[in-house]
Amino acid sequence: MIVESNETKGDLFYEEFYKKGGWSYSYWREYWWHRKQIVKRFGLRRGMSLLDAGCGNGFHTHLFKRMGFQSVGVDRSRAGIEWAKKHYPETIYHCCDLFDMPFAHNSFDVVLARGLSHYHYNLAGRKAITATAELLRFVKPGGLFSLVIITDLSGRKPVDDVWQNTLADYRKHMSLFSDEYQVDWYKGMAICSCRKEAEPVGAQTTREISIVGD
Ligand SMILES: C[S@@+](CC[C@H](N)C(=O)[O-])C[C@H]1O[C@@H](n2cnc3c(N)ncnc32)[C@H](O)[C@@H]1O
Repeated sequence: MIVESNETKGDLFYEEFYKKGGWSYSYWREYWWHRKQIVKRFGLRRGMSLLDAGCGNGFHTHLFKRMGFQSVGVDRSRAGIEWAKKHYPETIYHCCDLFDMPFAHNSFDVVLARGLSHYHYNLAGRKAITATAELLRFVKPGGLFSLVIITDLSGRKPVDDVWQNTLADYRKHMSLFSDEYQVDWYKGMAICSCRKEAEPVGAQTTREISIVGD
């Protein structure tokens, strides 16, 4: 008998979901939301390189391309990336896992994680911490890591569903990685960022991060 992990179930769900087109986002609503809540809020400029990590079927990667960014999307869903390449041929996409990305470290001005499930559960646990640590490796020193994720801020942490982390939970997570971080909330979405600190020559990391749970 093959027992499927939640991760495999998630992957199977996304394969079917993206084949049917995925979320039906309103182009202009998403355009102006990201322009105000990400580009303006964090002072991003046209021409910057941006990695959309877990880009699904590539909609937001394409949106940033249209706003003038050199954007690249990655997702491990084959169907998502096929859809993205077909519908947004002028934007670059790679089908790969976040932990196996084909880029040099320190190569993006901005790394964006929008809706990644790693941030729907225990933010002090292994899954969330290793994801942020990995994604930050691809941010240029002085560049930005940004996380956008749904939460109602209630602090509910059910065992069988996604957690509704509070702003304090997100603050604690971001503060593990940088002294320069920002956490906010707008209409159901936590909008977080941290600036990557300069790496001292020869050092792996300047921070000790303790992991609590999965
Ligand atoms: C909720 S969807 C968000 C998609 C897109 N960012 C959006 O906002 O529409 C989460 C995406 O993360 C992808 N994902 C989850 N874990 C991943 C991993 N380890 N490597 C690459 N992609 C991953 C899934 O395949 C899925 O497409």
